[in-house]
Amino acid sequence: MTTRPPLTDSFDRRIESVRISITDRCNFRCRYCMPAEGLPWLQRSEVLTFEEIERLARILAAMGVSHVRITGGEPLVRRDAPDLIERLVRVPGLDDLALTTNGVALRTLAGPLVDAGLRRINVSLDSLDHTRFAEVTRRDMLDRVLEGLEEAERYPELRPIKVNCVAMRGFTEQEVVAFAELARRKPYVVRFIEFMPLDADRTWSKDDVLTGDEIRAMIEAAHPLVRLPAPASSTAERWAFADGAGEVGFINPVSQPFCSSCDRIRITAEGALRTCLFALEETDLRTPLRSGADDLAIEALIREAVAGKRMKHEIGEPGFVRSAKSMSQIGG
Ligand code: 5AD
Ligand code: SF4
Repeated sequence: MTTRPPLTDSFDRRIESVRISITDRCNFRCRYCMPAEGLPWLQRSEVLTFEEIERLARILAAMGVSHVRITGGEPLVRRDAPDLIERLVRVPGLDDLALTTNGVALRTLAGPLVDAGLRRINVSLDSLDHTRFAEVTRRDMLDRVLEGLEEAERYPELRPIKVNCVAMRGFTEQEVVAFAELARRKPYVVRFIEFMPLDADRTWSKDDVLTGDEIRAMIEAAHPLVRLPAPASSTAERWAFADGAGEVGFINPVSQPFCSSCDRIRITAEGALRTCLFALEETDLRTPLRSGADDLAIEALIREAVAGKRMKHEIGEPGFVRSAKSMSQIGG
């Protein structure tokens, strides 16, 4: 239900998708995201309340932003996350609600999330081997994540279950086929995401990026794939196994940027609007939210920020300037 003019940027891209981070905290310390010692967390009072998030979602949905993904940090460190889902499923015009999690809390929260109305979930998983999992996440919690996935599987209304694997050269190669076989064996769509320069340790280099095409070639050597159609705004290439057993996906922001069809914006845990993962500027929405601005005033701020959405990210190009923020501070 769009009751306001659509939200469009200066390159004629229509914004239909928002990723909302509900906390900057996380119980993992993935190398491609956080430093071992963690980060200086926001104060609780600095983080948007569920009421504030719901209000922003309503304002956005009225402009045609119909897809919402809840992220973090790790969103499920807010144990009452199901209450937010319950609020958001009632927002008119919001027809696609998903959550990205590291999976640790799904053992207990999958049921409450589904009861609240969640129908789509993405779980991060970078290794199926205990030692290697602990190497990437700096936490020995592979079994908890696998149990979380099993619990999610118990709810047939929660589909698809997507498993996201950040692909890093020198690390991921040896498990590519095992992940493909997970996608064949389980009702999980396994997606490989190219490593992006969003690690707090700032060690990223272009040489660390294992591309989607390279991974696909490794899978096809064992299991032939056929390309599936995907909507233009989709960030993922979808491929099915030729024998019909399951699906894998490739998100290739570095080797094949999809900026020209980007339809998304982000809201950080402290209520700042970011119009690109690699934006160097943010628009504070929390101050107006908390100082009595009406919906039209907030809408105007959002429109102004979106008008300045950059054309593309320029990763790997000479002029590329990294954001000071890590993925966990932006919202995956
Ligand atoms: N590059 C690519 N993906 C990343 N993620 C976190 N940091 C990076 C990075 N530097 C992914 C996580 C998770 C999602 C929130 O973002 O694996 O799936
Ligand atoms: Fe936590 Fe996700 Fe960052 Fe890993 S990638 S440290 S799970 S926020």
